Amino acid sequence: MTNEKLLYIETFGCQMNVSDSEKIASLLKGLGYSSTDDSSRADLIILNTCSVRAKAEEKVYGHLGSFKGLKRERKGLLLGVGGCVAQQEGERLLKKVPWLDLVFGTHNLHLLPEMVQAAERGERRAEVQFIDSDTRLDLFPAGETEGGVTRFVTVMQGCDNFCSYCIVPYVRGREISRRSADILAEIRGAVAAGVKEVTLLGQNVNSYGIKTEGEISFAELLRQVAAIDGLERIRFTTSHPKDISPELIACFAELPKLCGYIHLPAQAGSDAVLSRMNRGYTRQQYLGMVADLKGARPDIQITGDIIVGFPGETDEDFEQTLSLVEEVDYADLFTFIYSVRPGTKAAELPGAVSRKEKQQRFDRLQEMLRIMTRRRNESFVGTRQKVLVEGVSKRGDQLFGRTDGNRVVNFSADPSLVGKIAEVAITFGYQNSLLGELFHD
Ligand code: SAH
Ligand code: SF4
Ligand code: F3S
Repeated sequence: MTNEKLLYIETFGCQMNVSDSEKIASLLKGLGYSSTDDSSRADLIILNTCSVRAKAEEKVYGHLGSFKGLKRERKGLLLGVGGCVAQQEGERLLKKVPWLDLVFGTHNLHLLPEMVQAAERGERRAEVQFIDSDTRLDLFPAGETEGGVTRFVTVMQGCDNFCSYCIVPYVRGREISRRSADILAEIRGAVAAGVKEVTLLGQNVNSYGIKTEGEISFAELLRQVAAIDGLERIRFTTSHPKDISPELIACFAELPKLCGYIHLPAQAGSDAVLSRMNRGYTRQQYLGMVADLKGARPDIQITGDIIVGFPGETDEDFEQTLSLVEEVDYADLFTFIYSVRPGTKAAELPGAVSRKEKQQRFDRLQEMLRIMTRRRNESFVGTRQKVLVEGVSKRGDQLFGRTDGNRVVNFSADPSLVGKIAEVAITFGYQNSLLGELFHD
């Protein structure tokens, strides 16, 4: 085809952006763009950006800088920025980066084909207005329609929680739940195409449906998804502890397809810090939920997020975080050094923790985590795990998949097992994964 053009997308940040990038690729197919992994051959480069921490934002500027030369060399090459930095900066980004052609915000994906056509005619544009709910309901990113073993399905967008450190509510806008009928239809379609596992995706899936009249609850959504024939496994992410209902916890006991895994970010272990973070729960309440979850599913694997160095965090507060981490006994933890986000409430708070102190706390937590995850992974040695096989490893000599509890397992077996659940005997626990052997009776 003579007019085929190549699109290169680079995605930063969370799974929301990954999902949006799929949608962008599928929207631009309509203009004759097909995807490439090679930016030097692209006719259109899109950076789908994240601004959750300063480092993530800086990365974007670094990449924009590195494409400046390519823009000069390749006449007609177009460069666009989408996602959360685009939303935050809008027009300003066009001014700051003169070799940039288009900027589109988190609610403006649907305008992209028109904007790219305008850019092809030499017009530079930024579109970052938030759009109303009815239109948004029709614009949820739907996953690819072709195969794959496991798939993310967006169930909600935006966030109304305004945790005091977080930029997401400002760059993603108000929380909105997708119609359950649309979600179920997408999952049925995916299962018909061979998908075995879905992960329901949103900034805070636990509040799914609450604000929409006539919509079902998240727990009911899980039950209806679980009733879909041919679907083997369900996961969801992310959960906000303040919105975990007893009904949802009960799902872990009632629904065998619901995997024994939950990402439940605590962020901190001290009540004083949790309150300044505007998290809406206490340490005690969080630990209570963890106990209830373990009650419903004794082998549940819990992961979390922790921020160190939040304004005013004392040594004492940090010790409370360490003890919470120990008590919960996380299967894994994502740890972050607090990063000031201009425009958020926390940016106004006094009591900044010094860089050195933040780093020391971060290092201590990392060390604890290293020991915890290694110990956890070694504890699986000698057990038998059901592994949903996702594919052949990059080296080509092993299969990889995940246990019900979301641990990655590598093992040698025939590639015909891809897409199936294999019984695997665990033989070794690494830092970040497990090694196993296909189990033969
Ligand atoms: N909606 C999800 C994820 C939000 S961003 C949730 O609530 O769990 C992912 C993680 O980034 C957060 O959980 C938090 O731990 C971290 N984070 C967000 N803002 C941050 C900031 N300003 N500095 C450091 N870490 C931050
Ligand atoms: Fe940010 Fe809090 Fe919303 Fe998560 S729940 S996206 S941390 S404001
Ligand atoms: Fe980053 Fe935006 Fe996700 S700020 S974490 S890409 S919602």
